[in-house]
Amino acid sequence: MGKGFYISKTVGIVAVILGAGALAAIIALSVVYSQEKAKNNNNNNVLPTDGGTTLTPPVTPAPSSELWDKYRLPKSLVPHYYNVTLWPRLTADPATGLYIFTGQSTVEFECAEETDVILIHSNKLNYTRQNSHLATLTSVNPVVTAPSVKSSWLQNVTQYLVLQLDGKLAKGEMYILHTDFTGELADDLGGFYRSEYIEDGVKKVVATTQMQPTDARKAFPCFDEPAMKAVFYITLIHDSGTVALSNSEEKESSSVTLDGLSVQKTVFHPTKKMSTYLLAFIVSDFSFISNTIDGVLIRIFARKPAIAAKQGEYALNITGPILKFFEKYYNSSYPLPKSDQIALPDFNAGAMENWGLITYRETALLYDEAFSSNSNKERIATIISHELAHMWFGNLVTLRWWNDLWLNEGFASYVEYLGAHEAEPDWNVKDLIVLSDIHRVFAVDALASSHPLSSKEEDIQKPAQISELFDAISYSKGASVLRMLSDFLTEDVFTMGLTTYLAEFAFGNAVYKDLWNHLQMAVNASDMQLPDTVHNIMNTWVLQMGFPVVTINTNTGSIAQQHFLLDPDSEGIPPSPFKYTWIVPIKWMKTGVEQTPQWLEKESTTNDAMKISGSDWLLANLNVVGYYRVNYDQGNWDRLLNCLSTSHQLIPVLNRAQLVDDAFNLARAKIIPTVLALNTTKYLNNERDYIPWQSSMNNLEFFYLMFDRSEVYGPMQDYLRKQVTPLFEYYKNMTGNWSKVPDGHMDHVHIIPSSPKFYFNDSMVIQVQPYVHHLWNIKLLKMSSFFSIHPNLRAIMYCNAIAAGGAEEWEFAWLQFKNASIATEAEKLRSAMACTKQPWLLNRYLEYTLDPNMIRKQDATSTIVYIANNVIGQSLAWDFVRAQWSYIFHQYGGGSFSFSNLINGVTKRFSTEFELQQLKQFKADNAQVGFGSGTLAVDQSIERTIANIKWVAENKENVLDWFKAETKSK
Ligand code: BES
Ligand code: ZN
Repeated sequence: MGKGFYISKTVGIVAVILGAGALAAIIALSVVYSQEKAKNNNNNNVLPTDGGTTLTPPVTPAPSSELWDKYRLPKSLVPHYYNVTLWPRLTADPATGLYIFTGQSTVEFECAEETDVILIHSNKLNYTRQNSHLATLTSVNPVVTAPSVKSSWLQNVTQYLVLQLDGKLAKGEMYILHTDFTGELADDLGGFYRSEYIEDGVKKVVATTQMQPTDARKAFPCFDEPAMKAVFYITLIHDSGTVALSNSEEKESSSVTLDGLSVQKTVFHPTKKMSTYLLAFIVSDFSFISNTIDGVLIRIFARKPAIAAKQGEYALNITGPILKFFEKYYNSSYPLPKSDQIALPDFNAGAMENWGLITYRETALLYDEAFSSNSNKERIATIISHELAHMWFGNLVTLRWWNDLWLNEGFASYVEYLGAHEAEPDWNVKDLIVLSDIHRVFAVDALASSHPLSSKEEDIQKPAQISELFDAISYSKGASVLRMLSDFLTEDVFTMGLTTYLAEFAFGNAVYKDLWNHLQMAVNASDMQLPDTVHNIMNTWVLQMGFPVVTINTNTGSIAQQHFLLDPDSEGIPPSPFKYTWIVPIKWMKTGVEQTPQWLEKESTTNDAMKISGSDWLLANLNVVGYYRVNYDQGNWDRLLNCLSTSHQLIPVLNRAQLVDDAFNLARAKIIPTVLALNTTKYLNNERDYIPWQSSMNNLEFFYLMFDRSEVYGPMQDYLRKQVTPLFEYYKNMTGNWSKVPDGHMDHVHIIPSSPKFYFNDSMVIQVQPYVHHLWNIKLLKMSSFFSIHPNLRAIMYCNAIAAGGAEEWEFAWLQFKNASIATEAEKLRSAMACTKQPWLLNRYLEYTLDPNMIRKQDATSTIVYIANNVIGQSLAWDFVRAQWSYIFHQYGGGSFSFSNLINGVTKRFSTEFELQQLKQFKADNAQVGFGSGTLAVDQSIERTIANIKWVAENKENVLDWFKAETKSK
């Protein structure tokens, strides 16, 4: 396969016009697949090679009693220092066509327990033999002789380099292991890998790394567990004219001659004591911008044209303030002398918190006023904040093992909002946690297939099990319960505990209970009263899955809790150590006035203050700081609905969003009637705020998914249009008849593009046109007016233009996509191309996702999801994913959420028995291949489909009648 990402215009057009037929594509794919498979098998070969000449005899897989058959390292050896030199080749070997890197490493380790076996992680590395072995061993102490190596081999399954010694290593002594090795600098987005792009018609190659969670072992042999912290002395060899970066600052760089080549040798200062998964090595010809804040050097690196176009400025401007904010928040100064951030053309996750050298995909770091939307900007601010938060929480203090990943990612996912708020105080960005995390994870944590936040250390062993932890529960439930904890402790007490936790474990490791202990110490030092210890309160949220629905009866003052399950008939709920009761903090108000908070510690209790009479209403879970839903007696619901329609501002904005979300979900769980849920949307004609609107749209999206192929669709759209009209008029006024862009970050720009498919009619669309100086006509789109569309509206405009057009429009967008000068623009076009209504274009686009020359690997799964979001593309995408699962799974590794997003994305409309059977079949057919980070998503999808089938059967009539009545009467 060609390696360039961008194809020439002519080749592109020819390829597009010829459009590989499905059959041809399948044949081509199976050829590629068998080649790849062969390649993988080679790489995975247990036979160590030294350039292909000497081979150690294969080792028959031993029974699992051997040390090297266990996934966890023994505790016998503890690394102190590594000295690693790596030389990535940015041009392919002419003989093999492969890109490679070579390396030497020494690791100095202490023997903590006598042993005659050395196990060190190594994956897909080939070793050069020394004295016929894969590594040499010496002792640091001249009076101690190291035992000699008896045999050495690569244990492929558990990813070890194994050395058997002819004698024991002595406890307390230091030894040095030396290796020489080569590896492939593949385009696989993991370990030491390559990223490619075209600049001025020339292909450029970047060598870069992604180590988390278990790929440092693909770059050099190392004790690749987070608790094996060490100091790293890194040297990179690279061509002169290129820049070498790593976690620490450059110490010296000089020209040297190696293998007859004149190259640059850059030596870095030793790192702080750190975990292997946070290492980073990058060689590129990128340029950078920089500033210095209180002695910390801040740099933003990107492709030269991106820096020249000032796309790094926004990131540079906000990094300093966010770093300063976290120093204050943690009461701990930034632990390193520099903070580099780099945008890479190929990157699997969104960003990675390598200590001192954070890597990003381009869309997550680069901003261009002319092309990027407000939501692009928002993502950049929150993702930078998230990664900077890890510099302390995660990097300075690291959880001992991956089972506590939820605390690391959950914490960063909570405080990212605090840091972003500091950078953009006018955005109300903190409120977004309700939509982006709480609502997102409520949807999956209400299923019987959910799981507790915390896993047992012994249950998380294999790399695949570690990858599965990067899910919505770890991130979003983690963030939600930590926000709740910080709220009931108060931010002062929370940060006090955090500060002493960071101080005690700096440069070391901890477990989640260590944080609870420090928070408890802070509680004890305050005059705060809690119903129980931090530990006991949090156990109920961390050790059992799910969350409660708290039911308040304002007639009797009773408060009760119950495990909230989206499908009340779901079976197979695992037993919980707390019998599905939680220690619930309840903040509440009566008719707009906040009351003394209340704790619910048991299944039920009563509070006379919650008895309400007259027209008063009660609202619980103020500002949605609690991780639970609330239900009320019908009378209180009626009074709340009345308040919404008469004076909705009395109810805090986040609670308006929550009332809608709670009502819709309680209805789905058959706790309240669907009509009551629909009634919560009646006040929307008065609502002007973004978050309640978006919450309502997200809930109505479910109706849309279930009914957009049925007769409910028409009346539903009429209703929504009626509700949105006042909002539309409001913005029309605010924008002077669509002649200027509104000022507020969340104004309009957020709301109108988000789901216009439901609630716009053609006349509204035509009215918006002056604002965008554009007609939805592709002929005009092709002219210069293309670029006069406001960035906030581009995504939706492109989508509509492509939906209205045919092949010509699609191909025009494709060329624009390939030539886009900023990744956020390319992203908008990539998503818009999925809007076409032509099945053949959608099918061809699906096939492009398997060719990295057309769609980068990093974008493959999200492109398939874009296609599945299109009502016409959904079944095509599902057929495609089923047919290609094994290939997709092996080729496209697990980015942060890519597999779960993919599976949820292609199945989210499922609501028939037939689709359920297909889904179950898909699970059975691919049991061998596996689903990686999408494992849970498969079960979630099955459960959701079952619930949808029932829901549609039970609700269709009612819903249709309700929409008809609402649109007829007024
Ligand atoms: N540590 C992760 C990146 C990561 C994810 C590495 C999965 C390996 C596997 C990083 O801190 C992160 O969480 N990134 C998020 C962005 C964040 C704003 C939620 C991402 O990449 O989506
Ligand atoms: Zn993170």
